Amino acid sequence: MNDVIRTLQNHRSCRSYLPKAIEESELEQIIQSVQMAPNWINGQQVSVIAIKDTERKKRLAILCGNQKYVEEAPVFLIFCLDFYRTYLASQMENTPFVVSENIDTLLVGATDVGIALGTAVTAAESLGLGTVPIGGIRRHLNEVITELDLPPYVLPVSGLCVGHPAEDAGLKPRLPKEAVYHEETYQHNLKPALENYNTTYQAYLEERSSGRQSGTWTKAVASFYSKHYYDGIEEALKKQQLPHRK
Ligand SMILES: Cc1cc2nc3c(=O)[nH]c(=O)nc-3n(C[C@H](O)[C@H](O)[C@H](O)COP(=O)(O)O)c2cc1C
Repeated sequence: MNDVIRTLQNHRSCRSYLPKAIEESELEQIIQSVQMAPNWINGQQVSVIAIKDTERKKRLAILCGNQKYVEEAPVFLIFCLDFYRTYLASQMENTPFVVSENIDTLLVGATDVGIALGTAVTAAESLGLGTVPIGGIRRHLNEVITELDLPPYVLPVSGLCVGHPAEDAGLKPRLPKEAVYHEETYQHNLKPALENYNTTYQAYLEERSSGRQSGTWTKAVASFYSKHYYDGIEEALKKQQLPHRK
């Protein structure tokens, strides 16, 4: 196993940070790695906004749903899908700009953000730092857009806390490989693998919480997807001139 594979397979989210800044050179390396990630048509449809200001982190922690580690981490990175630069390119080249009319815009932007976010996680972890992505940044999107003074065509997709871990949450077990990996065509008979995972996951949860938490994976995700979780996404897409329902 090489160092990169070791880092990737050792991933675990960190939700508790020491009150200690990260080196500027470390942040620089993370951002340089992010910038070198593959991206759609080399359009580089991602921006990262680094938040270090204590008061701003505090406000964002609340907007993210009172996630205290957003405030606690020395740096909170916000990954935005960003078509503002390509909009400027269209202006400079005097061509039509139709991203608002193409739903694929959202897939392109979210994919670029996902790759950038994953790259940042691995880069940070390879430096011995801890991270946790924060999808809660979409909980109050309009307020976040105002807080960050975002131009049109830019939308926050995920945050990322980065800092020195105060504790090790340990590895979280994943679904069995047969539930996520297919050869040639999709294998539909997945329920036995999910039942298996329920047993593993429940044991993990009970052990990690010293018996305070229990429940299966299917119960957790079924409950999550039984309701709409973030309001205001449509409104934010509209405000940012990105594709949305009319
Ligand atoms: C896009 C994205 C958004 C996430 N948002 C949150 C979040 O808002 N709060 C949180 O505590 N964890 C968040 N997570 C972390 C996941 O819960 C975590 O990665 C998952 O449970 C697997 O655990 P592990 O990373 O420790 O292996 C997010 C992860 C991703 C990829």
